[in-house]
Amino acid sequence: MTEHDLPSLYDHLWARLERATFEGKDPWRWPMLATASPAGGPAGRIVVLRKISRAETTLTIYTDTRSEKVHQIEAIARAALVFFDPTSMEQLRATGTVSLLKEGDRWRSLWDEIREGQDTDYRRRSAPGTPIPSPSAAASTPDGPPHFAVIDLHVDHFDWLSIDRDGHRRAHLFPSTGKRQATWVVP
Ligand SMILES: Cc1cc2nc3c(=O)[nH]c(=O)nc-3n(C[C@H](O)[C@H](O)[C@H](O)COP(=O)(O)O)c2cc1C
Repeated sequence: MTEHDLPSLYDHLWARLERATFEGKDPWRWPMLATASPAGGPAGRIVVLRKISRAETTLTIYTDTRSEKVHQIEAIARAALVFFDPTSMEQLRATGTVSLLKEGDRWRSLWDEIREGQDTDYRRRSAPGTPIPSPSAAASTPDGPPHFAVIDLHVDHFDWLSIDRDGHRRAHLFPSTGKRQATWVVP
């Protein structure tokens, strides 16, 4: 990537995001999902980046249908995924509109991809955040219904920041326009 080449920054970002979906140690695998609570407060938590689609400009994560973040997204369908790599010192904030999938063909094929053993995360008897007497009481029901939700973030804005001793760089990119619109901004 050259310093003044915004189109190559697009390629760099999508390639990095794609790598994070399968490279277990890539720090961009664990972004923070930021949502807005209907009460007006902020809400952030770490999630796993599962899929990306450059063509659709979407970033996909999985969660429990009953989680707080799902309620927040149902109320306010805007969110951001915030990535940071402490080695390259790159931050990426991807902001957009969110859609939720709880059934249908695509939901089914993504659910079928979930490895045996990992499905228990989506088969807990009670909703995430329910008070329990001890951690062991968070049991799953092996054949219970999957409380599996797919969250797609349709990215309309990337805010990329590179912290570098030779000069910080920051850019705004608008991937959903399909025109590789982008501009450098003051860091
Ligand atoms: C490394 C790591 C990865 C996580 N991945 C996910 C994930 O992919 N999906 C998810 O719903 N929660 C994930 N969590 C748990 C969330 O951070 C959060 O605690 C939980 O989803 C409840 O959030 P909520 O009450 O805001 O909905 C992960 C936590 C950590 C530390």
